[in-house]
Amino acid sequence: MSPAACDGLGASPLRLASALTQPRRGALNWIEAGGRSVVYTHQGRNAIALFCRMAGLRPGDQVLAPAYNCGAEIDPFVKAGARVVLYDVDRRLEIDVDRIVAALSPATRILYVTHFFGFPQPLGELAAACGKQGVLLMEDCAQALYSVSGDKPAGLAGDAAVFSFVKTLPVPDGGALLADRRFGPPRQPEKQPPAAATGRACLPLVKRWLVNSASSSPLHRLAGSVALRHSRASTAASDGRRRPPMLSSNRYVEARTAWTMSRVARAILAAADGAEVARARRRNFQFLLEALRSVPGFEPALPALPEGVSPMAFPFFGSSRSYWYSQLTAKGILVQGWPGYYPGLDWDACPGACFLKDELLTLPVHQGLTEAHMQYIADAVRAAAKLAPAGSAC
Ligand SMILES: Cc1ncc(COP(=O)(O)O)c(C=O)c1O
Repeated sequence: MSPAACDGLGASPLRLASALTQPRRGALNWIEAGGRSVVYTHQGRNAIALFCRMAGLRPGDQVLAPAYNCGAEIDPFVKAGARVVLYDVDRRLEIDVDRIVAALSPATRILYVTHFFGFPQPLGELAAACGKQGVLLMEDCAQALYSVSGDKPAGLAGDAAVFSFVKTLPVPDGGALLADRRFGPPRQPEKQPPAAATGRACLPLVKRWLVNSASSSPLHRLAGSVALRHSRASTAASDGRRRPPMLSSNRYVEARTAWTMSRVARAILAAADGAEVARARRRNFQFLLEALRSVPGFEPALPALPEGVSPMAFPFFGSSRSYWYSQLTAKGILVQGWPGYYPGLDWDACPGACFLKDELLTLPVHQGLTEAHMQYIADAVRAAAKLAPAGSAC
């Protein structure tokens, strides 16, 4: 039987309940941290805020950050009083190393680089330039958990790195900061998040589990179709306005910096098999690359899958973003993007990233999806392509 839906990564109530009953173990071994301090946080954005404190970021310090962002990684810098200056990202999600090096100045305190969709950015030259000029290099690995760059896990090339486990694993919360030991012994946030907050964050995981398994029984199908209605309403899509503001849920809330990750999240992270997760994600990404290689009006943004990448999603351009969004979500396929703009930044200077915000969408490739799900997605893309309006995005 073919699947009826392909939502984000979910978790069954049983899996979540059994994670709750796991005894809290000592060190987690999700990464070879290469001698760095590891701090566990409630969310990735809190890890960024912690690093701002550890690094002694002062009001007015400049942070150079990629203009292709969701806002959650920008907000902690702004709230720390930094002056965020954007650099552009092109439609292949590549950064211009020479331009970034030229933009470093005595005012620059942190250069922030994001490994989009798990594809590591080249950091050699940037790390050297930062080292020479006393600029801190911070890697955003929110989407690059289990990706490898060269022979090392992504996140070990700079002075610090931030992770967000919710992007890759079925956890209600959880982030981490990896920081060079020269920033001092880490102060681990100690507070467990309130049970109500963890419970609320578990609900979408259960919903997605129901949606993804919607074909397996009539009960699942019914629950899945109800859940999908909510999912469609909340999935990120531009509402047609020019440069709509970022989602308010992407704001950084300072009070949560005292929270660590929940026990449920910790147990799921401890039990996760990173190599297996990466293998399944690569298999699903490769499936779409091959199945959708020459579909008219549909263009993969990342047309190859280099060794070592654990892909977060499958980014693409369609001839009309709103057409593709509505066609695919109508079939229960999770389609996402970052259409929202952080207010008050110089977006006109970054046309490449604006293009990505306005045009790029993603298909899911997570480890919870089977070959039947991927076939269903590929068929839905081919069907949508047949009726797609002509447009300029690809
Ligand atoms: C690229 C990137 N960096 C950082 C973050 C922050 O992660 P979190 O949502 O765990 O705070 C996000 C997501 O919100 C993200 O997409």
